[in-house]
Amino acid sequence: MKLINSIDEIKKIKKENTTIGFVPTMGYLHEGHVSLIKRAREENDMVITSIFVNPTQFGPNEDFEKYPRDEKRDLQKCEENGCDIVFLPQKEEMYPNDFLTYVEVEELGKSLCGKSRPTHFRGVTTVLTKLFNIIKPDKAYFGQKDAQQLIIVKKMVEDLNMDVEIIGCPIVREKDGLAISSRNTYLSPEERKDALLLNKSLILAKDLIENGEKNISTIRSEMEKTILLGKNNTIDYIDFVDIEKLNPVSEIQDKVLIAIAVETGKTRLIDNMVVEL
Ligand code: PAF
Repeated sequence: MKLINSIDEIKKIKKENTTIGFVPTMGYLHEGHVSLIKRAREENDMVITSIFVNPTQFGPNEDFEKYPRDEKRDLQKCEENGCDIVFLPQKEEMYPNDFLTYVEVEELGKSLCGKSRPTHFRGVTTVLTKLFNIIKPDKAYFGQKDAQQLIIVKKMVEDLNMDVEIIGCPIVREKDGLAISSRNTYLSPEERKDALLLNKSLILAKDLIENGEKNISTIRSEMEKTILLGKNNTIDYIDFVDIEKLNPVSEIQDKVLIAIAVETGKTRLIDNMVVEL
């Protein structure tokens, strides 16, 4: 496995007739990332993973500085799971002092997490545009856990005619149902118990819908009660939206994305479920 830091060097990797599967990450790799790397390995000639804690997607009072990092362990996981190249760009090269250009998918980035993280998705789409231009992957792999991110990235690729196929992969959960996230590492044992209530509330919503409940206020209120059983939990949002435009739905119809964000202690957690009738 090769490590590359320089943009010029990785730009030379793409060859005709060799497909590249790309897994963009911010490091601190977990089983969710591993599932993306494995899928990329199955579907491509070459697998490239990037590790870059992208400053432009963090707000001024967010956890950029303290975002967990463990490069040695990350490289081991990449190697064990069949990565050919790990790209570790330098912040100064990605964002030189005279950097001025941002890519924004309007509207889609304003709802759900965009309400409390107004510049987050602009940072994500900007860094991904750069990474796609630099690496020129055939396919790029994203987890469904960040459902809004996945929808926004697909829209950006469509709108800007980018030559990359975006592949969404299922959420990976711990045995007890907690959606795996690098931020889970911030949770105390007690907070972790409270964090389990996110998935429990989604399962409850699914059961209610499957048993015929169509009223969103009723379902939301049951979910709220479940989540707030955890005394460390504060709800940011519980939203019911369509899976393309992320517009709120007024009643449960054929397919709905239920997306939630909760502060558990000081840790912001997200989870979601697509429920189909
Ligand atoms: O999902 C993430 O880890 C990040 O948002 C991504 C896609 C690597 C962009 O920095």
